[in-house]
Amino acid sequence: MPLAPLSYPERIPLARLPTPIERLERTGERLGVELLIKRDDLTGSGLSGNKVRKLEFLLAEARALGCDTVITCGGEQSNHCRATALAAVRLGMGSHLLLRTADPDRPPAATGNILLDRMAGADLRWITVAEWARRGELMAEAAGRLTREGRRPYVIPEGGSNALGAWGYLRAVVEELDAELAALPSRPTTVVHACGSGGTGAGLLLGAALCGWAGRGIRVVGVNVCDDRDYFVRAIGAICRDFGQRHPGAPTIRDQDIDILDGYVGVGYAKSRPEELREIIALSRTEAVILDPVYTGKAYHALVQELSRDRARFGDRIVFLHTGGLFGLFPVADQLAALF
Ligand SMILES: Cc1ncc(COP(=O)(O)O)c(C=O)c1O
Repeated sequence: MPLAPLSYPERIPLARLPTPIERLERTGERLGVELLIKRDDLTGSGLSGNKVRKLEFLLAEARALGCDTVITCGGEQSNHCRATALAAVRLGMGSHLLLRTADPDRPPAATGNILLDRMAGADLRWITVAEWARRGELMAEAAGRLTREGRRPYVIPEGGSNALGAWGYLRAVVEELDAELAALPSRPTTVVHACGSGGTGAGLLLGAALCGWAGRGIRVVGVNVCDDRDYFVRAIGAICRDFGQRHPGAPTIRDQDIDILDGYVGVGYAKSRPEELREIIALSRTEAVILDPVYTGKAYHALVQELSRDRARFGDRIVFLHTGGLFGLFPVADQLAALF
């Protein structure tokens, strides 16, 4: 595997790997492309989705430092927080989650990911949108308080998206996707993924550079589900630069290597339009693949829309990375029911 001159940091196996890569025959035919799906929604059941790959490295560091409590943050239905809480349970640690919500005095119902946060015994703290702007500070305060109480906290940024977390998708490319694509006839290929905090994109790009994907006609495109293209070029660029500083010999990712497909945030982060939900329902009914409304459903909707405009836009083959998030469907059950 083309990892040299790098070597993996310590890792705790938490995900069911390798995940399958499957062909979506009927949908591919309808869209006029060869369509494959990399099933990272199958990295586990409760402890599932893309976040588990990042947590394998982040929690290995937490354990090596002797930490006993993990602190992290996200939106109220954060998949990352749910996965972190369950991974912490697996390692005998506690978890403290800062969850952003409209009105902390009236927290949302315990459904979807929140239900699983509760099942995992996570300590939940609801914060306002204004407080979210100070999330780093709030997590540091929580860490200080837990330390004074005799605990050993480990802070993970939103989405597990930092240089250490980026190893998760670097490894996914080097150990899985690269060989999976090499086993297929060579064709111009695009790996499409949802982009929420940038760590998945950073890892994919670093892995792609190590494996020489550009020279083999394979590119990576992220669909932003919040913020905009410039924000993610900066966020992913910053993670890759930090990675490079920590690991001499790591590939350099330039801004022009970061391909973000903007224009599909729709009515806002974690808010769905009927056309996005209809696409999710259609895929469930054609392929028995269930997407989520916040990330993969939006990225998939973007893909279908772009293909209807320009079939050649992504080359001949698309690998859609299913990053999980199934539990996010339950809070929008009423919106879905209206479309059945
Ligand atoms: C299901 C799902 N897909 C995609 C993403 C985006 O990944 P990243 O935050 O690494 O950009 C997230 C988290 O943000 C997620 O929960």
